[in-house]
Amino acid sequence: MRNVTLENLFTHPIAKKYLGRSGIAHAITVAEKAFHIAQKSGVDPDQAAKAGLLHDIGHYTWYRNGEWDYQLYKENDIHAIKGSARAHKLLIRSGEVPQDAKTIALAILLHTDSYLPDGELQLNPLQRVVSLADEADEEPGGEHHYRKVDHINALERIQGLDMLIDNYLRSNNQKHTNLRIN
Ligand SMILES: [Fe+2]
Ligand SMILES: [Fe+2]
Repeated sequence: MRNVTLENLFTHPIAKKYLGRSGIAHAITVAEKAFHIAQKSGVDPDQAAKAGLLHDIGHYTWYRNGEWDYQLYKENDIHAIKGSARAHKLLIRSGEVPQDAKTIALAILLHTDSYLPDGELQLNPLQRVVSLADEADEEPGGEHHYRKVDHINALERIQGLDMLIDNYLRSNNQKHTNLRIN
């Protein structure tokens, strides 16, 4: 069993305060996409979904007159750095295994290179999954940050994803047990 579920994270006051800044709908969709890509890539889907859910938790409110101010954002943004630390705090407070919290925080730190000087990041498989999932949900003009989802629907999607992760981990454990027995 996992120490921490997506629902634990999603309903924590830290997530409630910061997750909406760049769009709950985007956060959940990236978590879902990261889970599916991870399953196909031999990456831990629990870590991928958690990093996907929290990948943009570091955003500052870049709104001016109700619109995201891209100029201001480009000049000042460090959301991946901030998000990595913020997600790590949330994970540790929720009881995540410290090594997993570090792994997830690193995937958040490296989910984008938009804040870094020019150059290519060398990503490990989990980090690549989170980055791909984020890119897959991006819309022109940052529209993905404005998409809305109501709370009940959001919670249902989170709980659905938790079930998929638990099922995956259960059947994987079963496979390992069978391998040991045979
Ligand atoms: Fe981001
Ligand atoms: Fe994003």
